[in-house]
Amino acid sequence: KLRFAVFGNPIKHSRSPLIHAAFAKQCNVPLEYRALRVELGDFERAVTAFFDAGGSGLNITVPFKEQAAALAAELTPRAARATAVNTLWRDADGVLHGDTTDGVGLVRDMVANLGWRVQGMRVLIVGAGGAVRGVLEPMMRELPDSVHIVNRTVERAETLAREFGVLGKVTAGGYETLTDRQFDLVINASSAGLQGEGPTLPAGILSERCCCYDLLYAAEPTLFMRWAAHNAAWAVSDGLGMLVEQAAEAFYVWHRQRPETQPVVQQLRGVLA
Ligand code: ATR
Repeated sequence: KLRFAVFGNPIKHSRSPLIHAAFAKQCNVPLEYRALRVELGDFERAVTAFFDAGGSGLNITVPFKEQAAALAAELTPRAARATAVNTLWRDADGVLHGDTTDGVGLVRDMVANLGWRVQGMRVLIVGAGGAVRGVLEPMMRELPDSVHIVNRTVERAETLAREFGVLGKVTAGGYETLTDRQFDLVINASSAGLQGEGPTLPAGILSERCCCYDLLYAAEPTLFMRWAAHNAAWAVSDGLGMLVEQAAEAFYVWHRQRPETQPVVQQLRGVLA
């Protein structure tokens, strides 16, 4: 059996073992996949030990994605741009490779599964943390009209706008820059909802056909989703599809097979409810 794992801290609520087990069954790949909590100072040692012991691949989640990028000897171009890695593997020569599949996962869920357009759209991203860093390059590849990033800490948004501005029109600011502006696609990447406080967005920023996507997911609609519905969004989604799509892309990186994602999304909905 091939051995895989996800490293994070905390890790208790990780759905990755369930998702990869479902993919493995579909594709007839014999593997085991575990969720392992790694102590904060122990990441590098744990990764090395895992591969030395014959492990085939690792997913990396909060708070280790940047450290994983620093540890990998070879990064895919999208991981190098993001300076964040969620997928690791060693090649036959023992070289550690890193990739990031979060952004592709988001774009595939929006464009292929939900049928939303990104091309030509005025995009608003709320939040400027690690998640946004992983998402921006695949997003810019879809050729949006523009991307505006707002964040509580304006400086983090500005840094992202500077770094990713080479790929297209990316601007940044505080929440006050939303006054009198409209967007066609709004993505919530702020973890504020986790603490039960929604991002404070002014009413009237959603254009007539605006789609709203929350990177968070839960059994019940999130605060941001409820805000979007209340403000007459055209379409609203949580991030469960992205979670499954990023896992599918990691599965493809490791096994060169593309599993069906929708049955697994349905299965997860059942587990969440
Ligand atoms: P992730 O990997 O999910 O992106 P992160 O890097 O910790 O996690 O980023 C969390 C995001 O949520 C940030 O944009 C953060 O804003 P700051 O950069 O100003 O910290 C945002 N966030 C978290 N709690 C928030 C709150 N109570 N109000 C507004 N924004 C919040």
